[in-house]
Amino acid sequence: MRPIMRILGIETSCDETAAAVVEADGGRFSVRTNIIASQAALHAKTQGVVPEVAAREHVSVITSVIDRALEGTPRTPEGIPEIDRIAVTAGPGLMTSLTIGVETAKTLASVWRKPLVSVNHIEGHLVSSQLTTEMFSSLPALALIVSGGHTELVRIRAWGQYEKLGATRDDAAGEAFDKVAKLLGLEYPGGPIISQHATRGNASAISFPRSMITSDDFDFSFSGLKTAVLYHTQKHGLPAREQELDDLCASFQQAVVDVLVAKTIRAAKTTQVRTILLGGGVSANCCLRERLQIAAREELKNVVVMIPELSYTTDNAAMIAAAGFFHESSGSFTFRPNPQWAIEDPFEH
Ligand code: KG4
Ligand code: ZN
Repeated sequence: MRPIMRILGIETSCDETAAAVVEADGGRFSVRTNIIASQAALHAKTQGVVPEVAAREHVSVITSVIDRALEGTPRTPEGIPEIDRIAVTAGPGLMTSLTIGVETAKTLASVWRKPLVSVNHIEGHLVSSQLTTEMFSSLPALALIVSGGHTELVRIRAWGQYEKLGATRDDAAGEAFDKVAKLLGLEYPGGPIISQHATRGNASAISFPRSMITSDDFDFSFSGLKTAVLYHTQKHGLPAREQELDDLCASFQQAVVDVLVAKTIRAAKTTQVRTILLGGGVSANCCLRERLQIAAREELKNVVVMIPELSYTTDNAAMIAAAGFFHESSGSFTFRPNPQWAIEDPFEH
């Protein structure tokens, strides 16, 4: 039987070129394909993403990534894939990277005569836990989005209706992992490697600041923590022994997770939600995944914590296709990439 809707998702907001086919049927998604061409190795050399380099790489791989995502999708006798719409990330992100995905999606939608919807990248992370649930989560919900570019607490009244409660005032949580890794001479991206060291370290070895943990709002700040790590290394030198590095990583990670968990639990209490959704690259962090679940069980009544499967934590196009399911297509292709697109802003057509 044909699904209610089959969506081709395209994502190029930063340094992953991704395409996916997702089917939506009766309140649940099925991911048919999820192709990601990562540029991580390319950007490891520069310890961060160089926009021009990222855009060139998107251009060279996007066609083959989309072709691979469409393998297995039935085609009409004319060779047009039987999809019901195309969903593409239109922001936030790097302008040059976003443009490649948006222009490719517009071209395909025009040639294949398919509806096109623009998707906010943060909304993609916000729905990523829904890709593997039997039934969409109960609303209202609270989402903690923690990625390389964003740290946001968002209240979800209905799918597609969002209210930003708070955000980082400086560095994003993932950015803090990346900058601290750079400082310690570890590779990019910093999150995975720091969390690996952290598993072997003592999280109470060094007392790093928990900025804004008790502040009367839902904002975050991580640049002070990064500076505290810098001062620590200036005073004591870079960790010479493996155990010192492990302890430093564990203590840093603990400080980040303490703040994220405390603020999320408080926001959930204040806004009386039924579900907490976790999303974004930092949601791959096992300490954060565990601690948020434990805290919700201990401190909140009947609130379910939804955590994306590991493969959907970092940037992917399945989450973009899923978010695209929740929006109407206007039938027009006039929207443009918007590097500053905020989650609570209206959808652009
Ligand atoms: O969502 P994402 O793939 O890209 C953005 O939209 O930014 O997130 C990438 C971020 C990077 O900063 C990376 O260091 C972080 O996610 N990250 C992690 C872990 N895995 C990836 N941070 C902490 N622990 C991890 N295990
Ligand atoms: Zn992302």
